[in-house]
Amino acid sequence: MKSGEKENEEENMEMRGRIAHACAMSGKTNVPTRNTKFASDNTSGMCPEAFEAFTRANQGYLRSYGNDSWTQRAADMLREVFETDCEVFFVFNGTAANSLALATCCQSYHSVICYQWAHIQDDECGAPEFFSNGTKLLGAEGVHGKLTPPAIEQLALKRSDLHYPKPHVVSLTQSTELGTVYSLAELAAIRDVTARYELYTHMDGARFAYAVASLGVAPKEVTWKAGVDVLCFGGTKIGMAASEAVIFFNRDLAKEFEYRCKQAGQLGSKMRFLAAGWVGMLENGVWLKYAREANRHAALLAKRLKTEANLSAAHPVDANAVFVELPRPLAQGLNERGWEIHDFIGGVSRMMCSWQTTEADIEELMRDVLAVRKSAP
Ligand SMILES: Cc1ncc(COP(=O)(O)O)c(C=O)c1O
Repeated sequence: MKSGEKENEEENMEMRGRIAHACAMSGKTNVPTRNTKFASDNTSGMCPEAFEAFTRANQGYLRSYGNDSWTQRAADMLREVFETDCEVFFVFNGTAANSLALATCCQSYHSVICYQWAHIQDDECGAPEFFSNGTKLLGAEGVHGKLTPPAIEQLALKRSDLHYPKPHVVSLTQSTELGTVYSLAELAAIRDVTARYELYTHMDGARFAYAVASLGVAPKEVTWKAGVDVLCFGGTKIGMAASEAVIFFNRDLAKEFEYRCKQAGQLGSKMRFLAAGWVGMLENGVWLKYAREANRHAALLAKRLKTEANLSAAHPVDANAVFVELPRPLAQGLNERGWEIHDFIGGVSRMMCSWQTTEADIEELMRDVLAVRKSAP
């Protein structure tokens, strides 16, 4: 897509958003209907288990600011899941989780090595730098969204003089912004580098559940046993309303973290509602059940796009995301049929599956893909 066309597309999207907002505010209902089933893993609702726990938590009076039984229970359950005595905090969203976690690892003169298109770099509006009072993010090239040991090493060694922001943290996204998953071997190789250069490891786990389901390993294997100091474990994208757990395996880093949360407006007064969803999701391994299903649906979608429409995935489909380069007429045709599918990193289209995705949803999309293909090959 040419840049002018992309701008038009974005303007259209923005306009639709404004119309939707204006209609919602005026009580009118003529909002253009968009099919957002694959637009993001944020377009799904709350899964029944999280919703049910939310309702259970809505009973009577409980102590505030995290001093309640739901918060205690959710934190204990996370300690059980990770099989270690970690420190757990709940915040409202991923940007806050990442920014505050990184801020606690860094002084203002430090730097964080991350993938060049990492969410912390491109999609958090400078919040990591803001909350750390100036810590710089150093974007490295990667392979299908994954940092490599040589790329980390190159930035760690680039300069050692006083004038360069001292590399202090490596940030890994698991699963990555491009839907790939770091293997145990890849994490071990990165750990060798972080140990060599005394770098902390932060993990943006907005889609951590999908990564664990994909790897089929115990969560401890891809976190503290792999050298992760702090994990931002996403609850929203696996079926909660809004909750992310900041989990410190390196407990020294958690010192006074609650003050950071409070100062950043992230200390929920009715914390039980940030915690309850976790109880619902962690009971009976619900989080992994849904993550496995979403991953299976993404693999199915990728397979059908390839076999029925000859559209190959641009990146390995390791988790719940499918990236495909859609020819312009196809993208336009799907848009006209109401599908909201976003162009993403590198200009390819991203289709996301979530706990709510069904085979019928995939069938619905494929029907339109094939119909548009037929009329505008
Ligand atoms: C890789 C990654 N990290 C973090 C987030 C969390 O962002 P938010 O602040 O919107 O919850 C997202 C959401 O899209 C994401 O894709």
